[in-house]
Amino acid sequence: MKILLIGSGGREHALAWKIAQSPKVDRLFIAPGNGGTQDSGQNVDIKVTDFDAIGQFVKKENIDMVVVGPEVPLVEGIADYFAADPQLRNVAMIGPGKSGARLEGSKDFAKGFMMRHGIPTAAYKSFTGESYDEACRFLETLKAPYVLKADGLAAGKGVLIIDDIDTAKKELKEMFSGMFGNASATVVIEEFMKGIECSVFVLTDGDSYKILPVAKDYKRIGEGDKGLNTGGMGSVSPVPFADEVFMKKVEERIVRPTLAGLKAEGIPYQGFIFLGLINVDNEPKVIEYNVRMGDPETESVMLRIKSDLVDLFEGVAQHNLGSRSLEIDSRTAVSVMLVSGGYPEAYEKGKVITGTGDVKGSILFHAGTSLSQDGQLLTAGGRVIAVSSYGNSKEEALNASFAAAQAINYDKKYFRRDIGFDL
Ligand code: AMP
Ligand code: GLY
Repeated sequence: MKILLIGSGGREHALAWKIAQSPKVDRLFIAPGNGGTQDSGQNVDIKVTDFDAIGQFVKKENIDMVVVGPEVPLVEGIADYFAADPQLRNVAMIGPGKSGARLEGSKDFAKGFMMRHGIPTAAYKSFTGESYDEACRFLETLKAPYVLKADGLAAGKGVLIIDDIDTAKKELKEMFSGMFGNASATVVIEEFMKGIECSVFVLTDGDSYKILPVAKDYKRIGEGDKGLNTGGMGSVSPVPFADEVFMKKVEERIVRPTLAGLKAEGIPYQGFIFLGLINVDNEPKVIEYNVRMGDPETESVMLRIKSDLVDLFEGVAQHNLGSRSLEIDSRTAVSVMLVSGGYPEAYEKGKVITGTGDVKGSILFHAGTSLSQDGQLLTAGGRVIAVSSYGNSKEEALNASFAAAQAINYDKKYFRRDIGFDL
């Protein structure tokens, strides 16, 4: 089989690493990929939203399956583009169409969906600029802190959590005036939930489903979860509090009603559903839906899937996922992200990376690297390399990742040494 994987981050390198292990795969292409993905396949220089170029490449290379890593092409309708072209229609597509991708592309839609199907989440109301005064009155009925969410995609930055009501009203006005462009023309205001978060990943063919290993990610730049939000500084799987009792609640109250709700609303869905959950006094509630895998959760989760991922993808495409097996590694897997000094604010690129060849016992997933003309590995992003390791305990896995993180060097390297601290 020939597979095209769309995306360029650490998530995609981890997916590529796992896909490449499948005996079913003859060729793997990654568009556009990064400095690490070419160890698992062949990079193709095509942008993730250039559907014409992607379609042409798929026709030219007779690709059998397309796996979509990031949310933007899904929300923009890559699956619909393929479905509308007679020559692309039969290519297996791992990722939902535009209608299903609204679960991530519109927070207002996602909240309405959860309400319609009785899925536990924070109480909320949605507003547009015309109803600013009404929005302020709604804020006054809530207790601090105040949660304001841009309705549309905002590269993970569209959520503001504000302690003081006057600041909340001011920021709300800014959101309506284009703080996140068109994405904040509608704003969801919701109740604040207190608890510890985890990420649950479901792979579905629209009817049957598999729940993949649960993970927790660490979003803040600073240790102790302080400072600015990032694209993710590390992850751990499994998550001790997401035990059998908790996961049974997740499956019964969230996974099944979500799939039944999609069906009831006539929304076909083939691909990943990522449940961003919060544990409020042992009750799981949904913070958000995403329609893809998480980053950097994937860099831990892929290590724990023993089964052939491509066999599971085939199950999605052929609508018989229920008959495929998912075996999970009982070990702990962790991932520690090496980032560029200054990130998530201004940082420099193009630093020479050394020491990756000396790393033993950890797996390096490149997030933002490139290769120079003369084959030198360079930093090419804020998040540079995810260092993933197995262990018989969380501590053992983390020690392996921290040791490898020390061995890799580039100017202004930074990583958090407290991943997993709260588990
Ligand atoms: P999101 O982009 O929806 O994942 O939100 C970003 C982060 O904001 C989440 O990971 C949570 O840490 C936090 N958050 C979002 N909504 C709420 C809420 N209703 N209560 C508490 N924290 C929230
Ligand atoms: N790790 C959170 C996300 O991928 O959105």
